[in-house]
Amino acid sequence: MASPQPGAAPGAGPRRPWTGKHVLLGVTGGIAAYKAVQLARDLTRLGAEVDVVLTRSARAFVGEVSFEGVTGRPVHAEILEPGHALDHIRLARAADVVCVAPATADFMARASIGRSDDLLAAILLATRAPVLICPAMNDLMWSHAATRSNAEKLSRLGYQLVGPAEGPLAYGEGSGPGRMEEPDVIVQHVGRALEDESRFRGRRVVVTAGPTREAVDPVRFLSNRSSGRMGFALAAAAWRRGADVDLIAGPTVLAPPAGLRVHRVETAEQMKRTVQRHIADAAVLVMAAAVADFRPRDAAASKIKKDATPESIALEAVPDILKETAGDRPSGCLVVGFALETEDGEANARRKLESKGMDLIVLNKTGPESGFETETNRVVLLDREGKAEALPLLSKDEVAERILDRIERRMPFLDE
Ligand code: C5P
Repeated sequence: MASPQPGAAPGAGPRRPWTGKHVLLGVTGGIAAYKAVQLARDLTRLGAEVDVVLTRSARAFVGEVSFEGVTGRPVHAEILEPGHALDHIRLARAADVVCVAPATADFMARASIGRSDDLLAAILLATRAPVLICPAMNDLMWSHAATRSNAEKLSRLGYQLVGPAEGPLAYGEGSGPGRMEEPDVIVQHVGRALEDESRFRGRRVVVTAGPTREAVDPVRFLSNRSSGRMGFALAAAAWRRGADVDLIAGPTVLAPPAGLRVHRVETAEQMKRTVQRHIADAAVLVMAAAVADFRPRDAAASKIKKDATPESIALEAVPDILKETAGDRPSGCLVVGFALETEDGEANARRKLESKGMDLIVLNKTGPESGFETETNRVVLLDREGKAEALPLLSKDEVAERILDRIERRMPFLDE
């Protein structure tokens, strides 16, 4: 199974940007409705107040009690009930974002012509919050011209379509496009819709992450223990804040974060070339990758036999990506680097900040809860002006938000 999206890990506590926000989750009648319970639970655990609205056909698949159980809030279903006559207006006004998941072909048809024949459809007309529509249906229904045209109409009305994904459909229906996006991906889209005022909006951000691998022979390599988590968390958080993100990742088992472009590389040389290809109009470069500092000088063309074990392997330095891409970066591109030091951390980090032309360096403390292969990190942020800020032990997702806050303060507004 793919690992969860950064920022939506099971057990995640209240987090920016979901915490304290009102999410109106509309559920319509498709088999993917059972996954909407998970979605409601994940959003609630991230600190959102989730108001669930079920259509009549959704109730054939999932019940109110399940949603009430995971959100702790009453569930809404009827539009014309004594005592609830104005629910559609009240709920529509309270919502910071409306997300319909799953959205059936029928719901899309109704929403595309502005019907208000049930509570959820009426809320769509009454809200001024961003609306996400997550289609889920059989692949034949999805590819029908009527559905395609309704999807286009919904986009023209300003609703954002999330998915559908490709994969296994309902029992016996094989695989195809039409499957609802997974709840952890939808959570990320909801997060992006909730981040409205960020200076990252509309900017290009390049993030490197993970280790690099340098071949000894076709089956062996030199690498390090980097998991890629910190870089993935940064890329996901920058995308949620509205950036257009290229994530350049060395080998890692992490699932690609929602929405952004992932470029998989293996060696430092490939990483350097990929950074060069994508940096030309970047506002920010975050070098979170743990680039191997050296590589075998002459990788063997075929597997080295055990009985020919070399006594030593000659090494050479790999290219320094930050230094060698300095000329490719546009002027004003903010540069964030990382340093993992075992001694004289601050002095060494400061030297790197200056010699590699960074605006901010994140000094990683190694230890059982920090550094490589952990979910948490303890870091010190050092900037060009000589300021040092030691952060407490935090999840890597929270560290990512703090780093982005610091970058954002250094970014001019787009129209400045
Ligand atoms: O010198 P050191 O490897 O500790 O520098 C760390 C910073 O430099 C990190 O941001 C890392 O991604 C970057 N780096 C690089 N090219 C290398 C090695 C490190 O850009 N070959």
